[in-house]
Amino acid sequence: MSTLPKIHAIKGMNDILPPESARWEWFESIVRQTMTRFAYRNVRTPMLEHTQLFARGIGEVTDIVEKEMYSFQDRADKYGDNDHLSLRPEGTAGVARAAVEHNLLYGGGQRLYYLGPMFRRERPQRGRYRQFHQVGAEALGYAGPQVDAEMILLATELWRALGLRDWRLELGCLGQPDERRAHRAALVAYFEAHADQLDEDARRRLHSNPLRILDTKNPAMQALAEGAPRLLDFLGAASQAYFAAVQDALRACGIGFSVNPRLVRGLDYYNLTVFEFITDRLGAQGTICGGGRYDYLLEQIGGKPAPAVGWAIGVERVLELLKEEGVAVPEPAPDAYAVIPDAAALPQALRCLQALRAHGVAVQMHASADASLGSMKSQLKRADASGARFALIFGADELAETQVTVKALRDGAGAQQRQPLNDVSTWADGLRQRLT
Ligand code: HAM
Repeated sequence: MSTLPKIHAIKGMNDILPPESARWEWFESIVRQTMTRFAYRNVRTPMLEHTQLFARGIGEVTDIVEKEMYSFQDRADKYGDNDHLSLRPEGTAGVARAAVEHNLLYGGGQRLYYLGPMFRRERPQRGRYRQFHQVGAEALGYAGPQVDAEMILLATELWRALGLRDWRLELGCLGQPDERRAHRAALVAYFEAHADQLDEDARRRLHSNPLRILDTKNPAMQALAEGAPRLLDFLGAASQAYFAAVQDALRACGIGFSVNPRLVRGLDYYNLTVFEFITDRLGAQGTICGGGRYDYLLEQIGGKPAPAVGWAIGVERVLELLKEEGVAVPEPAPDAYAVIPDAAALPQALRCLQALRAHGVAVQMHASADASLGSMKSQLKRADASGARFALIFGADELAETQVTVKALRDGAGAQQRQPLNDVSTWADGLRQRLT
């Protein structure tokens, strides 16, 4: 018999399987709790958007838009208009679009968060994937340094709740468009004076987006980038005061940070505050969260002007860091495992298990690939391996008396008690109490 060739997942796109998926669920539950504590509400936007949204929002001359998007031309038929579509490489542009499209800021600001997959066609390596996941928070329609500070505090509270310690915060200020224009002119003059040292990418970006040259990954250009004029030196009094207020708020909350005058984010929509949370424990992909203020994005994508600030966390990186730091994540196991050595007991056993579940007891029923039940001994072995605290034994003896044996597998292992099969409510709560 011929076997068909196996089909593999796409490079850089990972399956998230048990038991690893339990770590994801634990992480997600802490995210939800933390967001709720800061009064952020969940938002879900499509994974596919018009390419134009990202080109206009993130910037035409960014690595993400130029090189990393999964894009395609949709068909022209009764369902589509030959549109150019892209899988979302990040979440901010989509959330901003949704806010504009649904007039979400009509009655005031919105604090929103999301959690989901993003797609970038980067070279896969540790901490860098082609499908990766972000948790993002966006405060739309809110101005003022206190909101920037709140956004940063939200991330630090999340690190605390997760038990993460090994992070540092870098802060920068990108000023306002006129300040950036003056800085940009100085940058172009500087790079033009050193044109012989520019690589091909930099030469191409010199006039389209010289700021991106500072973000170069080419080691041969690092020194040149480091000697370039600093945006911080072009900030006017208002931007400087804003930046100082953000820093004061963080100091007041005991949040340590360092100012990085060269903090260049990979997206063009930022102004004023930008920040990154970085760890040294993950090698080259050490940024676990990045964000900043983006007061011009909503206007850029066709909405009314509205201030905004946000960040996104790389979920894979944070989970990896949790492992590196040895943070213990609770491993889920059923409370009880149903041992059913005799097929005659199945109907009554199933009914009893349903009643137990309705009382909040997590029960795993014994099952096998060939429908055979196997011996009591082999089933008890499985019960033990499942991590359950109790085995529920539906044996012939028990059945004869319409009972089930509840056997402790962990604390006080071996202790057992018979309970009535038909009257689960009399003992389910007691069982649950022994579990907590
Ligand atoms: P970003 O810096 O491009 O910002 O991405 C945020 C985080 O996503 C990064 O710090 C990193 O942890 C993670 N990340 C990015 N690319 C990958 C990848 N290929 N594999 C694994 N993790 C990755 C944004 O996306 C902005 N939307 C953040 C934001 C929200 N700014 C304002 N609001």
